[in-house]
Amino acid sequence: MITVILGLQFGDEGKGKVTDYLSEKYSTVVRFNGGNNAGHTVVTDKGLHKFYLIPAGALRSRNVILGNGMVIDPFGLLDEIDKLKHVHADVQIKISRLAHVVTPLHKFLDKAEEEIRSKLRIGTTAQGIGPTYEDKYARTGVRMVDLLDREILTDKVETIFRMKKALLEGSEFNSDDARFRMVEKLLKAGKEISKYLDYTEDFIFDSYEKGENILFEGAQGTMLDIDFGLYPFVTSSNTLAGALSNGSGFPFRKVDRVIGVVKAYTSKVGAGPFPTEISGEDADRLRGYGNEYGTTTGRPRRVGWLDLNLLSYAIRINDVDTLAITKIDTLGQMDRVYVGERYSLDGEEIKYIPRSLDDLEKVKVSYREFKPWGDLSDIGKDGKRIEYSDLPREVKEYIEYIENRMKRPVEIISLGADRNKTIRKPL
Ligand code: GDP
Ligand code: IMO
Ligand code: MG
Repeated sequence: MITVILGLQFGDEGKGKVTDYLSEKYSTVVRFNGGNNAGHTVVTDKGLHKFYLIPAGALRSRNVILGNGMVIDPFGLLDEIDKLKHVHADVQIKISRLAHVVTPLHKFLDKAEEEIRSKLRIGTTAQGIGPTYEDKYARTGVRMVDLLDREILTDKVETIFRMKKALLEGSEFNSDDARFRMVEKLLKAGKEISKYLDYTEDFIFDSYEKGENILFEGAQGTMLDIDFGLYPFVTSSNTLAGALSNGSGFPFRKVDRVIGVVKAYTSKVGAGPFPTEISGEDADRLRGYGNEYGTTTGRPRRVGWLDLNLLSYAIRINDVDTLAITKIDTLGQMDRVYVGERYSLDGEEIKYIPRSLDDLEKVKVSYREFKPWGDLSDIGKDGKRIEYSDLPREVKEYIEYIENRMKRPVEIISLGADRNKTIRKPL
């Protein structure tokens, strides 16, 4: 079985939890986009584990792959590998030689570019993601394999410095000596990482030919996609299902199923339009119940109701087969629960997503109200497997409403951060 898991909203839908839950049956888990702008939290009976670059299936799968579509901070990577080896000593980590390297120059540039954007500031994670993809497409990027070659690495760092001099002049890298020291540090990291570098596209294909199960874990979410997200408030890579081919080398026609992860409400970090956003006391409560603070940056996440217009778009563009709904426990604690059902613009109903920022800000959303279902923390307390039939009627109504409206079955329902707070709904 070849499966891809994707976020259908603005990221942080709970992809990490769903990946970990499913990874038991998959020998290989692959990341194919983004870098450590992602933060994926997994909670098991052994505690909490945060993933940034390594796929969240790494607690249980034998092989974890960091594909060529990723941008990798080598120092963050080494830290993460170290932490992972404490909890899963036998895991095999393979990193594409073709993945691009986030250097300290790129991290500086990320912040410098944000300052210049001023009103159009994205609110990036400041991890150097955008500038690293810029260099990839400018064909000046540093690839993982370059970390093994002093001459090439030095040439590339100098080229990037010359091209981006106006921005880098104010940085600590504005001297030959400082850049030399940076290159030395990168080479040292490269030496440590070299044992993990591999021809990952071949490994993935060989695993496929042996009939093994492979799970692809998308980072970010559909509305952060560089093309189809709410540009320019997006990340710098494609986050859609189709990106797995470019980002891993695996042919898209061989993918069996697409699982879309959707939070029972919506959250967003960073700037940009958010049609179903709520503010005030309701927002504070939802943020509090859901502990909506960024895994990577600690920033408070913006929150709002589920948005069916965005969701149906995400389902179509990713060709989603089944849905995984997370944080049902969080939403039910609100006094009132709403779902954004329809958009209208200038008094007329629209089924598309307006692409001008002005129109997006003007969209009016009509809502449907649902009865809240209260605290679900007692369900599954006895350690027994939770069944769909254990759920209160109000939750089932909410789930079945989404199934009917989206014309897709909900396969997984998550009632808590913990691995065992998960229901597999019979299809
Ligand atoms: P990802 O980026 O999509 O992997 O999501 P994050 O890990 O960044 O954010 C989701 C957060 O919600 C994490 O802290 C998870 O531990 C937590 N979480 C996931 N599913 C559930 C759930 O069903 N209920 C609750 N209360 N928390 C959840
Ligand atoms: P996971 O995988 C939520 C957002 C940032 C910012 C925009 C651009 O955990 O779901 P970037 O640093 O990528 O240039 O920032 O994208 N963003 C995320 N928001 N979850 C993520 O990843 C995100 N990755 C990027 O907040 O608005
Ligand atoms: Mg996250």
